[in-house]
Amino acid sequence: MTMSRMGSESLRLENVAALPAVHEKPSISVIGLGYVGAVSMACLAHLGFRMVGVDISLDKVRAIKEGRSPIVEARLGDLLREGVDAGLIDATQNLVAAVLDTDVTFMSVGTPTSPNGDCDLTYVRQASRAIGQALSLKSGFHVIVMRCSVPPGTTLDCVAPEIEAASGKKMGVDFGVCFNPEFLREGVAVADFYAPPKTVIGACDKRSEEIVSRIYSAVDERILFVSIEAAEMVKYADNVWHATKVAFGNEIGRLCKALAIDSHEVMNVFVKDLKLNLSPYYLKPGFAFGGSCLPKEVRAVAHLATDLGINLPLIQNLTASNDRHVDQAVRLLKPFEGQRIGFLGLTFKPATDDLRESPTLELMARLQAKGETLLAYDPNIAEGPHLQSQIDYVRHACPSQARLMDDLKSLTVQSADDVMANSDIVVVSHATDEFRAAVKARRPNVHVLDLARLFAELPAGDATYQGIAW
Ligand SMILES: NC(=O)c1ccc[n+]([C@@H]2O[C@H](COP(=O)([O-])OP(=O)(O)OC[C@H]3O[C@@H](n4cnc5c(N)ncnc54)[C@H](O)[C@@H]3O)[C@@H](O)[C@H]2O)c1
Repeated sequence: MTMSRMGSESLRLENVAALPAVHEKPSISVIGLGYVGAVSMACLAHLGFRMVGVDISLDKVRAIKEGRSPIVEARLGDLLREGVDAGLIDATQNLVAAVLDTDVTFMSVGTPTSPNGDCDLTYVRQASRAIGQALSLKSGFHVIVMRCSVPPGTTLDCVAPEIEAASGKKMGVDFGVCFNPEFLREGVAVADFYAPPKTVIGACDKRSEEIVSRIYSAVDERILFVSIEAAEMVKYADNVWHATKVAFGNEIGRLCKALAIDSHEVMNVFVKDLKLNLSPYYLKPGFAFGGSCLPKEVRAVAHLATDLGINLPLIQNLTASNDRHVDQAVRLLKPFEGQRIGFLGLTFKPATDDLRESPTLELMARLQAKGETLLAYDPNIAEGPHLQSQIDYVRHACPSQARLMDDLKSLTVQSADDVMANSDIVVVSHATDEFRAAVKARRPNVHVLDLARLFAELPAGDATYQGIAW
């Protein structure tokens, strides 16, 4: 059984010792012995890796050398003591010596917020230059693993060039770089290390990827390999999501308190829904939300809060955020002004004939107001009394779409092929097999704006295809 399958914060250290041996163990230097670095030192030493820690703080270096924890963190002191006693842990202020003495360098220096709100990369740059100086003296291959949370692009546009400039060596030839985000939670960081929520590696080459994978093979057999930039972004996406969850829970709490409802009674039910609430559902980028429920309920809750005098910035800005997503589609279609724009899918999602608050109709209405030529097909929209009553409803409920409703029947055609044959660009809002096939079979000069992510793998080198948010 792997540690990740155990998934328990109360993991016992004896279990770690029972893991299959990692056959080849690179020695590892860790630059920055704060919350991330000190935990990496202790936990990797416990797995049998020889570790050399580096910090500019003499106090932290002394603490690690003496097997004392420099921070408050459960079980960290015990593991550091064990590592020092086993001769697997050393620490120094001499970064160059530590890099020269090891095969792999983990970088976990601080990345605080600079005065203008940007991520301050001062420590990252300093450490990168010092690593470069060390590599100028080293003959063998070395791997640098970024653990810091940084803006996407930092590893390849800042760290690697600094190392190359200071060392005179080439990334991918003399050294490799990886981004390996850190997901530990302070307080339970040791348990999280041995049962990680996920292990993500972005590497500049296969050789570096293989070396870093080997380090983690004892704690996670399902490592996720992505590009370096995606690995950097995963960390930001995770933390923004966690912050969103906290803000959402607290906004629901403030609203509940004003309504004399126990927020925990509500959220205890909310978190039990693993199908729609706590699940991958709704989280993949696509087009704006719509339909008969979400926009209406969001407006109702925002209005309720305003009536109660409660400020809920997250919830009260959801409609604006959704509108900006429709704006983005309008912007992406601007280069096609004056050309024929076809639509595949009219309703807010596939497999329904409900036209209420469809963001696709809103997009079409905005284009129609600009004088664009439109045509559309939706397999669930058919001429008849039900369609007429839907059109009448939308015309009344949504004045911005009134003119489009007048013209909807005349601009609707009978098949996806009709749209493909008579459009210069096709906007696809439903990820169905029918539309995938139509897009694949299109004439070479027909462009596609994909609002629904038709293909998991993006069509490579196809300048006529683009997604709304990928
Ligand atoms: N704390 C967390 O729970 C956590 C979780 C995930 C990711 N991260 C990220 O990991 C990075 C480190 O976070 P942290 O909380 O461990 O930071 P920290 O401030 O606790 O530790 C950073 C250490 O780096 C040292 N340092 C700075 N420049 C140095 C240099 N040139 N040479 C050697 N040492 C140097 C500092 O003295 C300090 O001890 C940050 O990018 C942070 O965003 C932190």
